[in-house]
Amino acid sequence: MKLNEIREEARKKLAAMHARSERDLAALKTHLFGKSGVLTGLMKSLKDLPQDERPKAGKEINDVRVELAALCDKKEKELHRLAIEEALNAEQIDLSIDKPCRTVGARHPLNTVKNRLIDYFIGNGYVVYDSPEIETDYYNFQALNVPPDHPARDMQDTFFINDGILLRTQTSAGQIRLMEKFKPPIKMICPGRVFRNDDDSTHSPVFHQMEGLVVDKNVTLCDLKGTLESFAKFIFGEQPTIRFRPSYFPFTEPSVEVDVSCFKCGGKGCRVCKNTGWIEILGAGMVNRKVLENCGIDPDEYHGFAFGMGLDRITMIECAINDIKLLWENDVRFLRQFK
Ligand code: DAH
Repeated sequence: MKLNEIREEARKKLAAMHARSERDLAALKTHLFGKSGVLTGLMKSLKDLPQDERPKAGKEINDVRVELAALCDKKEKELHRLAIEEALNAEQIDLSIDKPCRTVGARHPLNTVKNRLIDYFIGNGYVVYDSPEIETDYYNFQALNVPPDHPARDMQDTFFINDGILLRTQTSAGQIRLMEKFKPPIKMICPGRVFRNDDDSTHSPVFHQMEGLVVDKNVTLCDLKGTLESFAKFIFGEQPTIRFRPSYFPFTEPSVEVDVSCFKCGGKGCRVCKNTGWIEILGAGMVNRKVLENCGIDPDEYHGFAFGMGLDRITMIECAINDIKLLWENDVRFLRQFK
């Protein structure tokens, strides 16, 4: 084959190539430059020419080889670009298609309330402490001044796992764990799940509490009252007042039950407050000196107050929910109402 024919034929073939001609191009390259390719063949046949013609002929062949190699390279890049373009066109997304929207979830009301309370306390300088759900008898009861066989254990029907190990019945256990590790001044809240063998429309075997603990020098019952008053205003609005009723908890002395005036009727009596004008929201008191001693804190130097509230209960009051199970069933028709 003559050099010119080779060159013209290669050019024609290159010109006819399109996006999917990668194989044709590879074949053409082998045909031209391969071991038994036509240009390689011409080079080899130089030796049959007379000595003085060889340099010129060699240069001609080489020029064509360089030219065609450059054209092949250019084509290769072009084919690559064309292939990408074609793929992009084929994969185009049609944004005009009318598809049903995905529904967007909402936060569970219990979490909304919990997060609001956490925000409130963090804003007031408290730290959030996470304490285990599986506890020992010591942290859940004994260190909180509830010895074995103490009648106060009856208030909390406990799920025991085995001897001395139980599902915590109260986040108060977090008080002990924290005070063992950190010394005063202390300001902490401990939110979490708690467990009791209880089951009716206002009690569930699993529910949520938030514990609060403040220990420092010169902490008094007035500090507790002020703290809970501003807390009540934060959740129930500006009007409510709070009242303390004397109560008993082994880990506080004195102990109180705390009510807020009904945010719905302002204290006149309605369904929300069961016609009493007051809603019970939490238990509290001054940390019992035995509890401080159990944690290696000197009760003559430091005093503290503690409080514990039921998050499910506060959520039920806030959202006017009458059955605690609704918080567990996760029925979307119920949850949607709190978007
Ligand atoms: N742990 C108590 C309960 O579950 C609630 C409680 C009462 C917590 C008084 C306290 C407190 O910290 O001071 O019934």
